[in-house]
Amino acid sequence: MSAATMSTHYSTAQRALHWLSLLAITVVYVAIEIRGDMPKTNAWRPLVTQVHFWAGLSVLAMVFARIYLRWRRPTPAVTPAPSALVARLAAVTHGLIYAVLLVQPVLGMLAAAAGGKAIMVPLLGIALPALIGKSHALEEQFEDWHGTLGEAFYWVIGLHVAAALWHHFVRRDNTLRRMW
Ligand code: HEM
Ligand code: HEM
Repeated sequence: MSAATMSTHYSTAQRALHWLSLLAITVVYVAIEIRGDMPKTNAWRPLVTQVHFWAGLSVLAMVFARIYLRWRRPTPAVTPAPSALVARLAAVTHGLIYAVLLVQPVLGMLAAAAGGKAIMVPLLGIALPALIGKSHALEEQFEDWHGTLGEAFYWVIGLHVAAALWHHFVRRDNTLRRMW
């Protein structure tokens, strides 16, 4: 058995990326909520929009690293071992989360490009190249998908957090400690 298989925790990099992603996703949601309450004339609105964009892009960058690390290293075992059904549900939920973390920022970039909203590189005053040209119809379509997935993701995260707490406080296994 390799050292990684016997490990009792996710690696330091995996744990750091998990909790940094949580932080970035919180910033993503807080920024878009604050922006929703701002009048269009508010001078801070463009900055808050850019914070949403860049926190979202950092989630995308981190998910590539996370998928790579996940592929390189076996997941540490849960003790006592859960039933096959619980293990399957966890695998499906984690797969779903990774899929959303990949797709959602791309939909956001497409919505921004179609709406003619520039993604400005902080401090440099230059914009990232737009993925597609301006189009009102595509803007509405991508914003719709991005918004719907963004709402649905609240529920997926809620389920994930509830499962983590159930493992820790009800089942009293080491699931949460492995990620701590
Ligand atoms: C994990 C990543 C992300 C999540 C969870 C997320 C979530 C959301 C949510 C919930 C909304 C509000 C939708 C509504 O009011 O109907 C929104 C709006 C938006 N997001 Fe994101 N977002 C993410 C990343 C990004 C990225 C990376 C970009 C672009 C670089 C982006 C661009 C946009 C745009 C253009 C809007 C529409 C804003 C407007 O009303 O003008 N998002 N996002
Ligand atoms: C935006 C919020 C969150 C996202 C996107 C997220 C995402 C993920 C993903 C993708 C995994 C799978 C790791 C892997 O095996 O590759 C994971 C594992 C885990 N997460 Fe989260 N997480 C979030 C918040 C939380 C919170 C708030 C908690 C604690 C209350 C938590 C506890 C855990 C635990 C314990 C694991 C290990 C589960 C296992 O290996 O079976 N997560 N998370």
